[in-house]
Amino acid sequence: MMAREKKLKPESNAAYKTYIWFCKFTDLIWNPRRHLKRIPLKEGMAVVDYGCGPGRYTLPVAKLVGPKGKVFAVDIQPLAISTIKGKAARESLTNIEAILVDSYNTGIQSSSVDLVLFIDTLHLIRDCDALFQEIHRMLKQDGTLFMDPGHMKMPGARKIVESTGLFTIVECRGHDMLVAPKAKQ
Ligand SMILES: C[S@@+](CC[C@H](N)C(=O)[O-])C[C@H]1O[C@@H](n2cnc3c(N)ncnc32)[C@H](O)[C@@H]1O
Repeated sequence: MMAREKKLKPESNAAYKTYIWFCKFTDLIWNPRRHLKRIPLKEGMAVVDYGCGPGRYTLPVAKLVGPKGKVFAVDIQPLAISTIKGKAARESLTNIEAILVDSYNTGIQSSSVDLVLFIDTLHLIRDCDALFQEIHRMLKQDGTLFMDPGHMKMPGARKIVESTGLFTIVECRGHDMLVAPKAKQ
């Protein structure tokens, strides 16, 4: 019999709401949208925003990839998903699909994604091998993982990515890195 997959639990609603207030405050000082020019985005791309939170990147990225593109906003926290759905509806953005996960399986089609954004979420991941396998599965062969380890220091983040054996770090640039998937077996 197969072992049953353990369901992942989000942080409490209270902790999440505190985080949202913290974001609103820090965004006044450090506008996250400035970060966008560091992300290799093109019109028409299929993008996954993994650990999307309140959508600080999801919404602007959806506008940049345009109606021919798509953004999958993935999070473990129901409040994040409902926030994204509300914001997308208010801004009439029809190219965002919000996905609530309780495991490292997103359900997104294999080899269908051009770019995975993984921003300030690595420090919250308990099973990095499972997560990076899922990212590798979703990405096209010429796709890219854009990773900003946020709360985690870059050398630790590099070590985790390299230990998966699934990716090559193409460029490491101060706060973020561009990572390419190795060929699928
Ligand atoms: C610090 S926030 C970063 C949000 C966003 N990327 C940003 O930079 O504004 C981390 C997010 O990752 C989500 N998260 C944590 N573990 C996760 C998992 N295993 N799968 C998906 N999302 C997860 C949290 O619920 C939270 O919304």
